[in-house]
Amino acid sequence: MNSVALIIPAAGSGERLNHSIPKPFIEIAGKSILEHTLSRFTPVKGLRQVVIATSAEYLERARSICRAALPPDMDFGCLVGGEQRQDSIFNALQQVKEADLVAVHDAVRPFVETVVIDQCIEVAEDVGGAVVGVPAKDTIKKVDDDQVITDTPERKYLWQTQTPQIFKKEILNEAYAKAEQEHFQGTDDSSLVERLGYTVKMVKGNHSNFKITYPVDLKLAKLLLGESG
Ligand code: CTP
Ligand code: MG
Repeated sequence: MNSVALIIPAAGSGERLNHSIPKPFIEIAGKSILEHTLSRFTPVKGLRQVVIATSAEYLERARSICRAALPPDMDFGCLVGGEQRQDSIFNALQQVKEADLVAVHDAVRPFVETVVIDQCIEVAEDVGGAVVGVPAKDTIKKVDDDQVITDTPERKYLWQTQTPQIFKKEILNEAYAKAEQEHFQGTDDSSLVERLGYTVKMVKGNHSNFKITYPVDLKLAKLLLGESG
C-alpha cells in the first residue's frame, strides 16, 4: 500500500468571508472547521503524516487541534505558511518525510467524503496525479479584459476543481521547485504539475465538497453540521 502525506493549507486570512478569526479555526457544532476536515482523512488507510500551514498566531491552536483529532501515533507538524496559498504549500512540502504520495487539501473543505479521497489516491498511484472535481453545472464563458465574451467552451469538457489534489511525491516536489524558480503562480496545485507535461486525471467528487469562501458558504456548512444560524 502506498504511504500518503497530507498537506493542509490553513494560513489564509479569509478576506472574502470577513469573519473575526481565520476560517479554519471557526467552530461549528463544537469543533473547529479544521478538526471537521481532519476527521475526513483519519480513516484513510495509507495516511502517515499530516503537515499544516497556519499563521504564526495560530500555530499552537493548530497543534492542539491535531492532538485532539489525529490518532496518537500519527506524525504531524504545524508550520508558518506564506503570503499566497502556493507559498504555504511550498513551505509545508519541505517538511514532508518518507511518502509515496502527497495529498493537498484545503482546511476549509470539511465535507469531502473519505471514499472520494480513497478513489483519488488510487488514480494518483496509477497515473501520477489526480484531482477531485465536479462537472461544471453552469455554462462557462471566456471573456476579454472588457468582459466581452470571446468563447463558450463545450461544457462537457469543463470541470470545477476542488481538493484533494494528490500526486507522486517526486512529481509535486519538482513542480513546486520549478514554479518557485520560474516565478510561476497557479491557482491550484495541479496547474503547477500540468505545465511540466505530467498526466493528471480528474476524479468525480460531489458538490457538497464546497470551499467555505463567502458568508453563505459558512451558513450552509452550519446547516449541514446541524447548527442553526
Ligand atoms: N491559504 C494558505 N495560505 C495563504 C492563503 C490561503 O494556507 N497564504 C489556505 C486557506 O487558509 C484555505 C485554503 O488555502 O484553507 C484555500 O484558500 P481560500 O479559500 O482562498 O482562503 P483564504 O485565502 O483565507 O480566503 P480569501 O482568499 O477570501 O482571503
Ligand atoms: Mg485566498
